[in-house]
Amino acid sequence: MSVEANDFKEQVRNHANIVEVVSGYVALKKKGRKHWGCCPFHGEKTPSFTVDEEKGFFYCFGCHESGDVFKFIMKSENCGFMDAVKFLANKYGIPVPERQKSAAEIAREQKAKQVVATNELAARFYQACLTKTPYGKGALEYLHRRGITDDIIEAFSMGYAINSFNGLMNALGKRGYTAEQLMLAGLAVPGKNGGAYDKFRNRVMIPIKDPRGKIVGFTGRILGDGMPKYMNTGETEFFIKRYLLFGLDIAVNEIRKTRQAIVVEGHMDAISLHAAGVKNAVASMGTAFAAEQARLLKRMCDEVVFCYDSDNAGRNASVRAVSIARAAGLKVRVAGVPDGKDPDEFIRQHGKDAFLEVIRQGLDGIDYQVEETILQNNVTNLAGKVEAVSKIIPFLLECKNEIEAAEHIRRLAQRLTIDEGLIAAEYRKAAKNSGVQASSVVQQPTVKSTYTAEQQAEEMLLAVLLEHPELALGCQDIVEEAGFVHQARRQIFDCILAHDGEQTVEVHRLMEILEDEASSVLAGILSKNVPDGDCAKIIDDCLRQMKKGFLEKEYEKHRLLADEYERSGNERFMDELLESQRINNEIKRLYGS
Ligand code: UTP
Ligand code: MN
Repeated sequence: MSVEANDFKEQVRNHANIVEVVSGYVALKKKGRKHWGCCPFHGEKTPSFTVDEEKGFFYCFGCHESGDVFKFIMKSENCGFMDAVKFLANKYGIPVPERQKSAAEIAREQKAKQVVATNELAARFYQACLTKTPYGKGALEYLHRRGITDDIIEAFSMGYAINSFNGLMNALGKRGYTAEQLMLAGLAVPGKNGGAYDKFRNRVMIPIKDPRGKIVGFTGRILGDGMPKYMNTGETEFFIKRYLLFGLDIAVNEIRKTRQAIVVEGHMDAISLHAAGVKNAVASMGTAFAAEQARLLKRMCDEVVFCYDSDNAGRNASVRAVSIARAAGLKVRVAGVPDGKDPDEFIRQHGKDAFLEVIRQGLDGIDYQVEETILQNNVTNLAGKVEAVSKIIPFLLECKNEIEAAEHIRRLAQRLTIDEGLIAAEYRKAAKNSGVQASSVVQQPTVKSTYTAEQQAEEMLLAVLLEHPELALGCQDIVEEAGFVHQARRQIFDCILAHDGEQTVEVHRLMEILEDEASSVLAGILSKNVPDGDCAKIIDDCLRQMKKGFLEKEYEKHRLLADEYERSGNERFMDELLESQRINNEIKRLYGS
């Protein structure tokens, strides 16, 4: 970020009081030093969302979402960082410094605006044709037959393109729109002998909106049977399908609230789900789910459930979509509607609850990939099994860690009745070739995740040091010796140390420097209540506890080594035994236990 941009950002931060900003979205109540409310990022009825006015950030004890005022706006308004800064600047009347735009950029922006304006007007015309003229009667009947009510038609701004080569051209022409403008928006196509004509004729028109609700394109469905069933706005620089999800503008709030998105193939599927009250559904518009679409969803939820058609195309697409969504950091499941139906048909026939049950039963993404691959290979003989394993291994390489991979390998071995060690060996070979770290898949030690007294002491120490960075230097020796259980805490300590000599640590600065994981650990630490009283005493207690934890681990390490050497007849066993006894004595001396 340039110096100017940084100054501007800080200027906005100084104006935008976080309590005031958050209050625009969540009712807050002051209790003690913090303001409390119900978290806007995960559904809850009792408040676990806090705002610390002094430190300028929020933290949710429920979903652990945290950050400063900009992060709050990014999440609430579903926008990027600079847009959040501008959003707040506008709110507080701070003039936004305009970057010098090139002539080409200005022209492009104007064109984009024009395309949206043309589309919006066209959508209104189509909708009027559908709902207010006799031309739309057949289309309206068609939609009603499909269970689409007038409310849904309104909510999705659906319309009808009349059966004419110049219906839209004439209507928009009267409002001053030229054929060029209509062609730019993809609503008209050039004729053979010059001129242009309406692209969409005699079709139900469904506008496609960007996440903010601007109409960027259309899909038109033929009434009943016929080819092509759907006709779409062609891809241009203003309409790029992989950045869009149909229905997202309507679904965004529910997706945020439930932290989950249901992704279907077809526009009509998404519309039908919304009509039945499943409000976190979006359509990928066809089967190719794109990385850009995944990243879009990652900004608003944690999990996607793919519910594509159960035909071959849909199942193959699901297998690919799992990998793409996982790569974006999303949790993924795949749900399949039974009897070769699509979600639209299923929910109209069986209702919302039955559909939600299908979603609940969705398989974990990798399980689905494994199962689907097995189904597509003949695994009744060894050659088929080997073939299936070699196709499955790339999916396993995408696992977050080896523990997860090992679990899948174990299950796969059982499923195919082949030796687990053989699959593990194949996996390691593939991992090596692809540069994925894999050491000992089968005997991966499990990680202890208990929150020990030692860890509590570490967090308390950091909480106090954040308020008294000048005391950090005095802790350095013991910290060096005992270390932190968690690497992220070490990072935070180092940052505080770098503030030595300063009065306070500016938390938002710290958040920016720290990596993602460390900054969320920091948020947890900041939410701790530091007891009143003698800071030096609290720090001493924490350091004592940390050192105790360290000594206990050292003791355990040497004792285990001694055991092992003794068993294998190694004479070094005596050294280890003595060392472990020495440490044990020290623990007793220092802590009397
Ligand atoms: P489907 O053929 O499954 O259609 O195509 P559907 O969603 O069930 O539609 P209805 O219920 O018959 O009205 C799924 C998606 O593939 C794309 C569209 O995005 C569609 O929603 N598609 C399909 C096209 O773009 N063009 C086509 O001709 C067909
Ligand atoms: Mn359908």
